[in-house]
Amino acid sequence: MPALSNSEGTAASFFAVVANGLRRPMRVTLLLTLMFAFAAVRAFAQGKNPYAGDAKIAKLGEYQFRLNCAFCHGLGARGGGRGPDLTRAQKRHGNSDAEMFHNIHDGISGTAMPAATNGGIGVGMSDEEIWQVVTYLRSVQAKAPAQPAGNPEHGKELFNGGFGCSTCHMIEGKGGRLGPDLTTVGASRSTEYLVESVRNPSRQLAQGILEAMKEFPQEYESVLVVTADGTKLSGVVLNQDQFTLQMLDTREQLHLFEKDKLRSFETRRESVMPVYDQKALGDKDLQDLLAYLFEVGGK
Ligand code: HEC
Ligand code: HEC
Repeated sequence: MPALSNSEGTAASFFAVVANGLRRPMRVTLLLTLMFAFAAVRAFAQGKNPYAGDAKIAKLGEYQFRLNCAFCHGLGARGGGRGPDLTRAQKRHGNSDAEMFHNIHDGISGTAMPAATNGGIGVGMSDEEIWQVVTYLRSVQAKAPAQPAGNPEHGKELFNGGFGCSTCHMIEGKGGRLGPDLTTVGASRSTEYLVESVRNPSRQLAQGILEAMKEFPQEYESVLVVTADGTKLSGVVLNQDQFTLQMLDTREQLHLFEKDKLRSFETRRESVMPVYDQKALGDKDLQDLLAYLFEVGGK
């Protein structure tokens, strides 16, 4: 690294000149301060976490995480409505300290992951605070990547066949639109979240992708509309404000209504997705479905 040692050399000789003009005790203090500063700057520049494994720093990082990240990534970093589970050892955008730092510092372009600096998140985070968060994330990282034991080929058959998942969900461009696209869900959600989504869909509703940057993103609420001429329509809410309602009905037709022109409408925080309990879908088949989602998501 000739560039680094060069600038260090220049800085050191600059320091020598400055220090010569000072009294000795001050010189020592200044020397120590600068040595610390250089060590810190070098560590930041090299993309190595200067706090790796420090439990006290991890605690500070947890505080930062709650403040800046938890509303997307969930408390405990286990994945929330908008951001993926960050406790997984295998990350999509890079596993090294440097890559994580970069993803947080600059955001991930083309996704809802904002840059933590330049006002992307709150008042902006310092490099030090970002390293604290990285230290925290390492401390909650799962020891072994959760590899579902199921059979992905069989899972794919189930997804496209008897269980009807593909009538509502798209994977790699094929399938229905009533529910969210599941192409990357396996890469971004924990196993627990996915199991819960299938066994108990209404407990935590998925959020619309396009809404990810809004403070209160639209969830996949269900809606029942009766139009002025008495036509009944059910489906999911795509968007709504005080006056209008945009919905996708169960036949995948898009509608935009003025609310005051409707005979009635009712939205519910309840999923349109059927509950797949143990009787409807055995544990082994569910494992296979998850193995399929993880396989597609990992591509
Ligand atoms: C507005 C929501 C939002 C906020 C706030 C947010 N993130 Fe993210 N983050 C995302 C999304 C969405 C992704 C997934 C991007 C993708 O792959 O599509 C992501 C991805 C990441 C990744 C990469 C994961 C991987 O698999 O490689 C890391 C690391 C991360 N976020 C950390 C953080 C930290 C730390 C904070 C707080 C300083 C934070 N995020 C704040 C939405 C958010
Ligand atoms: C009648 C349509 C329908 C069918 C059939 C259906 N889903 Fe869903 N699914 C939805 C809707 C709508 C949502 C969004 C609301 C929610 O979170 O429950 C959803 C949400 C999900 C989510 C959560 C996605 C996220 O990003 O949070 C998963 C995972 C999922 N479904 C998997 C499945 C699987 C696996 C099957 C087949 C066993 C299936 N779905 C069958 C409509 C359906």
